[in-house]
Amino acid sequence: MSSDDDLFSGADDFSGLTPLEARAEMARLAAEIDRHNRLYYTEAQPEISDREYDAQFRRLEKLEAAFPELADPQSPTRRVGDTAEAPAAGPVATGFEQIRHPVPMLSIDDLFSEGEVADFFKRLQKNLGAERVPVTIEPKIDGVAVSIVYRDGVLDYAATRGDGATGDVITANVRTIASVPGRLPASAHPPAVFEVRGEVFMTNEGFARLNEERDEAGLPTFANPRNSTAGTLKLLDPAEVAKRPLDFIAHGFGLVEGAELASVGAFHELLDRCGLRKNEPIWRAGTLEEILAAIAELDEKRHGLGHGTDGAVIKVDDRASQERLGATSRAPRWAAAYKYPPEQKETVLHSITIQVGRTGVLTPVAELEPVFVSGTTVRRATLHNQDEIDRKDVRIGDTVVIEKAGEIIPSVVRVVMEKRRGDSAPFSLVEHVGHQCPSCGGPIEQPEGFVAWRCVNFACPAQAVNRIRQFSSRKALDIEGLGSVVAEALVTRELARSPLDLFAIPEASLAVLNLGTDEEPRMLGEKNAAKIVRTRERAIREMPLNRWIYAMGIPQVGESAALELARLHAGIRELAASEILAELRTLKTGDRKEDNPLLAPHRIASEVGPAVAKSVLDFFASNGGRAVLARLDELGIDPKPDNYAPLPDEAAASGDKPLAGKTFVITGTLSAPRDDIKARIVAAGGKVAGSISKNTDYLVAGEGGGSKRAKAEELGVEVIDEAALDALL
Ligand code: IVH
Repeated sequence: MSSDDDLFSGADDFSGLTPLEARAEMARLAAEIDRHNRLYYTEAQPEISDREYDAQFRRLEKLEAAFPELADPQSPTRRVGDTAEAPAAGPVATGFEQIRHPVPMLSIDDLFSEGEVADFFKRLQKNLGAERVPVTIEPKIDGVAVSIVYRDGVLDYAATRGDGATGDVITANVRTIASVPGRLPASAHPPAVFEVRGEVFMTNEGFARLNEERDEAGLPTFANPRNSTAGTLKLLDPAEVAKRPLDFIAHGFGLVEGAELASVGAFHELLDRCGLRKNEPIWRAGTLEEILAAIAELDEKRHGLGHGTDGAVIKVDDRASQERLGATSRAPRWAAAYKYPPEQKETVLHSITIQVGRTGVLTPVAELEPVFVSGTTVRRATLHNQDEIDRKDVRIGDTVVIEKAGEIIPSVVRVVMEKRRGDSAPFSLVEHVGHQCPSCGGPIEQPEGFVAWRCVNFACPAQAVNRIRQFSSRKALDIEGLGSVVAEALVTRELARSPLDLFAIPEASLAVLNLGTDEEPRMLGEKNAAKIVRTRERAIREMPLNRWIYAMGIPQVGESAALELARLHAGIRELAASEILAELRTLKTGDRKEDNPLLAPHRIASEVGPAVAKSVLDFFASNGGRAVLARLDELGIDPKPDNYAPLPDEAAASGDKPLAGKTFVITGTLSAPRDDIKARIVAAGGKVAGSISKNTDYLVAGEGGGSKRAKAEELGVEVIDEAALDALL
């Protein structure tokens, strides 16, 4: 057994923290833990291992212990449902009835080293006032906790843990599990009420078969047996659940009426009589040495059990001692779970492939000689990025050590240098892909300050979802009702490959877009479809050029750069063929725009420099950018700037542009449509911005418009009415 206290080292030394810092750190940790709970529970997309989750949770607990007066009563550590171990079943899935557990379903404290096991045992000795404390040691099953209640020997209901106090009633789903009897044999003399607690899980074999079948059927595969089990138990159709290979093992009990279960022995006898499967193997121990020996023996055996286990649960055996020790609001003091460090195996790295992620990030992936680790066969492992490859000096052909972080995500730990072949060479991601995106052949870039390389092609299919979201976002074209779920569905259902496809989808197809799964379809609906259609038409009609430029997600072009680019160009075509940008691109560091005779008259703002110029021109020269121009023509979309003023001085001097160089913001209700007023200001050389800043010259205020007026007054911006604007014009 290895001691890996280093994961938490320094975690309880908070002496250097001021109360303010401590509170900030607590808030940060609480937010992180909440986020990971959400990822784990509702999205089934955990980003970190159980171990990392634990480390955060414990750090928060320790901080709260060190600064009790600052602890938030709403902290995740105070909720029964949260646990220092990443929880297996989420709070409240939709579509199920809720039930209050007769006895709360508590969590369990984790131990990560021999030292922590020793501390736990010492506490037991002290609190029970005994040298020998009889305990049992059994596998911690990596499944989903459920409570199954029998009344007079008949299955009454089954429920998930939920938030620990209240769970989802999943009786119909649990009834489909062969190892859960609907009725206990009368000869077993079951207690009047018998609440059996245990884990629903999938065997490694059943899980592998299920994933193979899904893969063949073209369905997404599950990340691991536990996610697959949790997902299955949430299905609303028991007939579907029945097709999945679920199993059940009992490891405890809640409410029991009509029987005395004084020890684990008595409980196991009852399970045997009832035909319920008990958790095996089980060890008995009375000293620390015996406990550690049992933990080591279980480690030898656990991978042969056929299902996932991630620890050893140590429980005080007799009921009276359990009651004396009691529980905190979260976990009993009479039990703890030792978590095994992840298993490591050697294997050969045959090749490295490059995946393109949703944001265009190129991720190198190790293609491995298949090897069985922590219960499943591992064929691939992420290598993260070039820096990571360099740091570990990973090369094709190397023998590498791999492990499954949190028993989920395989990773390469290190290279076995003694086994390196003489002919190996350092790996370069960029050379490997020939300086092109392996998904679309588009250009790739390494943004300054980032380790990752990214594909910057607007039409890269691997990035479609993200691009569509950026394109539709509030600050871009504000197409309403196009969040990540809808964008994802549009791409997976092949209605859109790139953002401009949005304009060609018939309203009827949008209305029937399936946002759910094949098992549980959920349509977008007519109202939402109409909203998308209405706002996409508004984008074509009303959105000024700067919004369109921003919407394209060109690297380095943020909102203010887009606004400045729109001021300098009369349309997208002009931007794509911009002489201003071509000149700007040639400037070297230290060259000033003001000293360049071609650029000086344009008075280009600092947001647009040589790097932006290059990025924009590269974009429109790329296949993706050219496709954008062609597609806009095809769709008849030709956005115009509403702040066009490439030569501000000339306009000002000519006298017929009385508002040149002046920036306006409009608020409230005016006598004419806002767009008309805007057009008059722009025609007179002025600019119209959406929000007030210190660069605003005038706020034109009609009826209402309170918040902008207040902001203007705060910043000392002159507020004028329509009559005053007319005078200026
Ligand atoms: S006993 C109330 N024994 O771990 C604490 N729990 O309990 C007593 N788990 O999600 C729990 N294997 O479902 C116990 N052999 C085992 C277990 C086990 C897995 C799960 C349980 C819950 C978590 C904390």
